[in-house]
Formats: sequence, C-alpha cells, structure tokens
Amino acid sequence: VNPTVLVIGATGKTGRHLVPRLARRGVTVRSASRHPAPAEAGVEPLRFDWDDFSTYAAALNGARALYLVTPTYVVDPTKQVETLLGEAAEAGVERVVLLSALGVDQADPGLPARRIEILAESSGIPATMLRPAAFMENFSERHWAGSGGSIRTHGELRLPGAGTQASYVSTRDIAAVAAIALTEDGHGGKGYTLTGPEALTLADVARIISVAAGRPVRHVDGGVETVHDALVADGAPEDFAAYMTELYRMTLLSGAMSPVTFDVTAVTGRPPINFSAYATVTADTWRP
Ligand SMILES: NC(=O)c1ccc[n+]([C@@H]2O[C@H](COP(=O)([O-])OP(=O)(O)OC[C@H]3O[C@@H](n4cnc5c(N)ncnc54)[C@H](OP(=O)(O)O)[C@@H]3O)[C@@H](O)[C@H]2O)c1
Repeated sequence: VNPTVLVIGATGKTGRHLVPRLARRGVTVRSASRHPAPAEAGVEPLRFDWDDFSTYAAALNGARALYLVTPTYVVDPTKQVETLLGEAAEAGVERVVLLSALGVDQADPGLPARRIEILAESSGIPATMLRPAAFMENFSERHWAGSGGSIRTHGELRLPGAGTQASYVSTRDIAAVAAIALTEDGHGGKGYTLTGPEALTLADVARIISVAAGRPVRHVDGGVETVHDALVADGAPEDFAAYMTELYRMTLLSGAMSPVTFDVTAVTGRPPINFSAYATVTADTWRP
C-alpha cells in the first residue's frame, strides 16, 4: 500500500507543483483545499476548509505525512493549526512540512507566523520548516498585488520597494524541496531557507520580464500604503491588510528577504531556478 501524503493548500502556488511531484514519487496524494482540483492518477482531491473543523478528520484519515499551507487572509490561525496538528499526532502522521517564510525563525514568538512554527516544532511529529523568500510566481499567478494583470494590461509592475533587493525563489523549487522532505528520511527537525540564486530589485525584475515578454515593462513605486490598498481591493479583511503591510515593511522593504542561500541545492542536488528562466517559460502571461 502506498503511503498517503495530505497536501493542504494543494491548489496554491506551491501546492499545485507539489501534488504531481509526490504522485511521481509513487505516494498517494490527498490534495486538499476549499475548491479541490479534479482527480488524477494517484491524486485524491478532497474538500478541506480551515474554518470548518469537521473537515479535518477525513483529510487526516490514513495520512502518513502532511504539507501545511496556512489559510490566506487570516492573521492568526493558531487555533486551526493547533487543532489540526493535535488530530494529526493522534492519527499517526509521521512527518509535517510547514510552509513558513524567510526570517520567521528570527521573529518575536508573539508574531503569529512564528507561533505557527513553534506549534509545528512542538507538535510531537518530526517537522521541517520551509522558509522561502518572496515567490517569483507572485508576478504571474494569483496574488493580492495583481502584478501579472498590471504588467499585461499596462506594462507596469506596481509594488513598493524601489532599490531594495529580494532573492526571489520559484515555487517549483519550494515544491521540489517539500516533496523530498515529505517522503525521505533525515529532514525532521530541520529548517530550510529557500531562495533563488540572486538578489534582485524590482527594477531588475521589470527589466527581465520586459526582455522575456518582448515589450516594455517598468517598475512603479506607489509607497507602502499601496500594499494595504491592494489587499483590501482583493477582499482581505482590514486587520490582515494592516498586518501584511507591516510584514511587507519588515521583510521586503528592509531588505531582510535579500540573502541568497544554498538550501535548495543542498536538498535537491541542483541549483535553484533563476529569474530569467522563470520569466522565459512564463512570458506569455505578460503579453496582451
Ligand atoms: N507569496 C509569497 O511571496 C510568499 C513568500 C514566503 C512565504 N509565503 C507563504 O506561503 C503561504 C501561502 O502562500 P500564498 O499566499 O502565495 O497562497 P497560495 O499557496 O498560492 O494559495 C493558498 C492555498 O491555500 C488554500 N486555502 C486558502 N484558504 C483556505 C482555507 N480557509 N481552507 C483551506 N484551504 C485554504 C487555497 O485554496 P482554496 O482557495 O481552494 O481553498 C490555496 O490552495 C503563506 O503562508 C505565506 O506566508 C508566501
């Protein structure tokens, strides 16, 4: 019998790459989210809602490993994560991989994101922390900033942070690391800081996208308050918009997301995808 891996957030930017990777590794994947994708060979879609505790038990039933993406637009999912991890331990789950973010291990334990890490670390289940830098795919896939749409429609990348760098990482690399940590021994109790191979400014990003898409793209910096406004326009509650604006200031505007690490290579045995390679395969997204 193939072991079952439960992927929460299976339709998201990392989850949708992780699910087929796990299926290729021969495990049964239970792909969970509020709006599950259609079934495929080796993949069992399942409705799971962090806000509906009655969906937890069926998702965990028989699972041996668990990939956790916490709910979007919720400042503090402590109760949900604590409940799920408690049920996971009782259900015999043997590995947890948590999608966190670069620098969260250095944060005050009162910060909800760090509290979630501590819950996973103290769950009694061997846990692996993935702490990625900002995702490359924020520029092309569903994201509160709507960058893909504004590049396609206006040729503008509208985000604050002119001059500050970030070591953008592809969600394909995050999924590659997650697949290994979920199915191979030796990753429990470890934390991986996942970055791309270079730190880039938003002007660099606009230039690389411009070359790949074959059209002018420029960076426009409207100030940090545009983070709040974009989130509210995307349907985020006010408390989450305020929290994310502060996190954006602390992580991206401060330059804290700019270190380049070698953890993707250390775990996968190959270097991380660079921004030009991501932009080349994504170029159609940015063409009108
Ligand atoms: N984006 C970045 O640059 C970045 C950088 C570092 C770390 N991270 C971390 O990555 C995580 C998520 O990234 P993301 O915002 O880009 O989202 P995402 O992974 O692209 O999408 C979120 C996933 O979770 C599911 N989901 C959302 N709310 C849910 C709920 N209430 N119940 C069940 N499933 C739910 C969504 O599917 P349904 O809508 O179908 O439920 C989707 O599959 C966050 O924890 C974030 O801190 C992101």
